[in-house]
Amino acid sequence: MGRQEAADELPPHVLIFPLPMQGHINSMLKLAELLCLSNLHVTMLFSEYSHSRLRRHADIESRFSRYPGFRVATMCDGLPDDHPRVGERTMEIMMSLLEVGGAQFRKLMETTDALSYGGGARRRVTCLIMDGVLSFAVPVAQEMGIPFIYFRTSSPCSFWANFCFNDVIQAGEIPLKGKDEDKYTYWKRGDLDLMVRSVPGMEGYLRRRDLPAFCRVDDANDSEFQTIIRETRRSAHSSGLILNSFEDLDGPILDQIRNPIPNLYSIGPLHTHLQARLQSSLTSSSFYQEDRSSMTWLDSQPAKSVVYVSFGSVTLLSRNELLEFWYGLVNSGHKFLWVMRPDSIIGDDEKGRVPVEVEEGTKERGCVLGWVPQNEVLVHPSVGAFFTHCGWNSTLESVAAGVPMICWPYFADQTINSRFVSEVWRVGLDMKDSCDRVIVEKMVREIMGERRDEFEERARAMADLANKAVSEGGTSSTNFNRLLHFIKSSL
Ligand code: UDX
Repeated sequence: MGRQEAADELPPHVLIFPLPMQGHINSMLKLAELLCLSNLHVTMLFSEYSHSRLRRHADIESRFSRYPGFRVATMCDGLPDDHPRVGERTMEIMMSLLEVGGAQFRKLMETTDALSYGGGARRRVTCLIMDGVLSFAVPVAQEMGIPFIYFRTSSPCSFWANFCFNDVIQAGEIPLKGKDEDKYTYWKRGDLDLMVRSVPGMEGYLRRRDLPAFCRVDDANDSEFQTIIRETRRSAHSSGLILNSFEDLDGPILDQIRNPIPNLYSIGPLHTHLQARLQSSLTSSSFYQEDRSSMTWLDSQPAKSVVYVSFGSVTLLSRNELLEFWYGLVNSGHKFLWVMRPDSIIGDDEKGRVPVEVEEGTKERGCVLGWVPQNEVLVHPSVGAFFTHCGWNSTLESVAAGVPMICWPYFADQTINSRFVSEVWRVGLDMKDSCDRVIVEKMVREIMGERRDEFEERARAMADLANKAVSEGGTSSTNFNRLLHFIKSSL
């Protein structure tokens, strides 16, 4: 067989590039593994920093060693070595990548060897799957005639609100600094409960305070805010959009998105989709070391007796906020397993140590750890509710596990996710814009006591629908096969 015939036999080669943040990498690695399981060649393009963090705790290479067509490539994020690269600074990371990514990406694509290093015959990249906020690869893909698909790792409701932000601004539902001083101050004047009418499909329940937190700016011309709008609307000029959700959860919003973007692939929940195809549990893709003592502690607790508390990989808490949550949990009388990342307490001079009051009081009440295997925790029989910041991965993991939620959104898409949990799917309570021990205690008692059966019933029903979506013949499974067909047809 000649060289060309041999090349023609090779499978499609997909390049995937996540924004180098935990929540984005988690879901994109799951997609990469699903594609590898379908015998495609996949190259994951990490930033040098995120790759070093992953190698420390997640060991990507060994997880993917079973797939001969998998490779890792890296690029520089353009930031100084001492940049903290924490979630609070996500926009700086994104803006830097938008600036330096294009030239590096072009070089990467032009030197095929860089993508096929490590031996083994591989085609040049035949399809790009890029993080929905990083469009620097588009000009190169267009020049090379390579189809590119966006993967927006946040929720469909957040994506759709972002996509409609210009209409929200035109309708005066976001303050225009200088143009109308009165409106400009409404974030402070408390008009946050006014309804928002300019996001189609959400007119009945979306308030100003529920909009994605990107728009809580002093000026709608804010450059980062405008970047979010620009990057989101670019999805309409791609070969398609992948979303980590499923039709029974987000159908009405997915139908709205299909108007400007008909080629939509809802293939979630990705973690259970991958588990279904792997027929085994998932390995970690965490930046942090998972503490397995969490599972031992849970094994010693009665069924449905524990509130699991975690605010993701980005959220920062002030000491006062932390103590309000802690006293609320302790006063609720329920036990809790609390993930407190070492870097998550603002102004904590004893880096990584839990404040003494919290440490002292948790001995009999609960278990405080730095990072846990969250998916295993959520399906543990002792967990009765999830006190979460509503990051999209956590929200979807809780939906798939059938665990009711108490939502305290911190930023980004979390503010609209929590509204959907409480008002649309009705599988939890929304504590948005408050941090008060009395409210915490009340909500914990409500979800673990008075209204437990009501929330559990709805959460279980949605979990069954999530499971059906990723099973053979389910909507997410069918959409994934449609995505595979598109990738194979783009050779
Ligand atoms: C970020 C943004 O904050 C979020 O709003 C957006 O939707 C995705 O990107 P993050 O804040 O990290 O994500 O939250 P989330 O999306 O919930 O992702 C956190 C991931 O870390 C989850 O997959 C969760 O399972 C995992 N996790 C969390 C652990 O494995 N162990 C823990 O102890 C805590």
